[in-house]
Amino acid sequence: MNDLAPLLTPEGRALLDEVRDTDPAHELAVATRLRRDHPAELVSAALGQARLRQRAVAKFGAEDAGRMFFTPNGVEQSTRASVAAYRARRFRELGVTSVADLCCGIGGDAIALARAGIRVLAVDRDPLTAAAARANADALGLAELIEVREADVTEVDTAGCDAVFVDPARRGGRGRIFDPEAYSPPLSWAVAAARTAPRAAALKVAPGIPHEAVPADAEAEWISDGGDVKEAVLWFGAGREAPSGAVRATLLPGPRTLLSRGLPDPAVRPPGRYLYEPDGAVVRAHLVAEVAQELGGGLLDATIAYVTADEHRPTPYATAYEITDRLPFNAKRLKALLRERRVGTLTVKKRGSAVEPEELRRKVLPKPHGTGSVTVFLTRVAGAPTMLLGHPVR
Ligand SMILES: C[S@@+](CC[C@H](N)C(=O)[O-])C[C@H]1O[C@@H](n2cnc3c(N)ncnc32)[C@H](O)[C@@H]1O
Repeated sequence: MNDLAPLLTPEGRALLDEVRDTDPAHELAVATRLRRDHPAELVSAALGQARLRQRAVAKFGAEDAGRMFFTPNGVEQSTRASVAAYRARRFRELGVTSVADLCCGIGGDAIALARAGIRVLAVDRDPLTAAAARANADALGLAELIEVREADVTEVDTAGCDAVFVDPARRGGRGRIFDPEAYSPPLSWAVAAARTAPRAAALKVAPGIPHEAVPADAEAEWISDGGDVKEAVLWFGAGREAPSGAVRATLLPGPRTLLSRGLPDPAVRPPGRYLYEPDGAVVRAHLVAEVAQELGGGLLDATIAYVTADEHRPTPYATAYEITDRLPFNAKRLKALLRERRVGTLTVKKRGSAVEPEELRRKVLPKPHGTGSVTVFLTRVAGAPTMLLGHPVR
C-alpha cells in the first residue's frame, strides 16, 4: 500500500490497535483471521505498520512509536528522539522560534522541535513520507505547530522561518552514500541554504564526514548516545555561543559537551596503570588531546586513540580500565593466562590491530574456566603489537 489514508480511517485505526502487539511468528494466522472481515490490502498494511512501529521503539520509545506512522526508509533514516530533543533544545537556546525542517522524513526532528515550542515548516518531496509526517504531527497533538509541505526543498521559500535544519538523504539505491555531494540535496546546496538563515542553521551529516569537508564558518558537533556515535551536525550562525570553526563532542544522555581547545597531539608515553577508551564522539571530533590533558595522560601510540595515565581521574568522556598485564601479542599466551586465572568472560577491544575479536575469543576461551572477567586490548604500544589486560574501573 503506498497511501496512508486507509490506515487513518476508523476501520484502519481499529485494525492497527488490534494488531499492535502481533508476534511476527503469528502474523500469518492473524492475517488469515482478519481477512475474513477486512480488505486484504488493509490487513497487510496494518500488519506492516505494526512491524515498523515495533522497529521504531528503539528510536522513539514505546509510547510514541505505538501512535506514530512510518515508512521502512522513514524508520531507518529518522533521528532518534534523544538526539532530536537535544538539538531542538540547542535551537531554542539560540533564541530560535521557527525552523524550516528541510527533508523532514517522517518527522523525527520536526516532532522534537515542536515539543521544544518551536514552529516548524516540515518539507519532504516523497508523498508517502510527507503523509506520515502529517499523521505523526496529528497523532502526537503537534499539528498546530507543524505545517507539513510535500515539495522539493530546493523550491521552497523559507523566508518566514528564523532557522533552517537540513537532514539530507544519505542512502541511495546502492546503500549508504559517503560523498557529501551525492547526498540529496547535495551538501553544498544545504550549506548555501544554511547561510541564508537569519538566526541559525544546522545540517545533519554522516559522522564519518572528513574534517576538511567542514566549511570554515561552521561549528562541527559529533553526537553519541549511550556511547554509540549517531551523527555529526554542522551549525551555522551560532556564533553567539561558539566561534566558527569550533569543534565539539556531545555525549547523551547527559548532555556532556567537550569543546576543542586547539591542543596539539598528545605525547606518546609508556603504558601507565590506567588505560582510557575515549567515547566515539570524542575520537571522531579529534578531541582526544583535550581528554588526555584532563587525565594528565598520553597516547600509547601516536596513531591510536587510547590514552594512558598513572592516576585514575573519572571523566564522562572516556571509560577507564585498570591494566594488570602488558604482553606482546600472542594468542597461545593469552589462552594460558585465561585458564590460569579462571576467566569466564572475555571482552576483546582493539584499535590498530587486524585481529578479528570474535575469532580470537573463540580461540582463546572456547569455554569458561570460572567466573572471572577480563578485558583485553589489542593495540600497538610504540609500534609493537601488544595485549593489555585489565578491567573497567568501578
Ligand atoms: C534522512 S531523511 C530525514 C529524516 C528526518 N530528519 C527524521 O528525523 O525523520 C531524508 C529525507 O529527505 C527527503 N529528500 C531528499 N531529497 C529531497 C529534496 N530534494 N526535497 C525534499 N525532500 C527530499 C527524502 O524523501 C527523505 O525523507
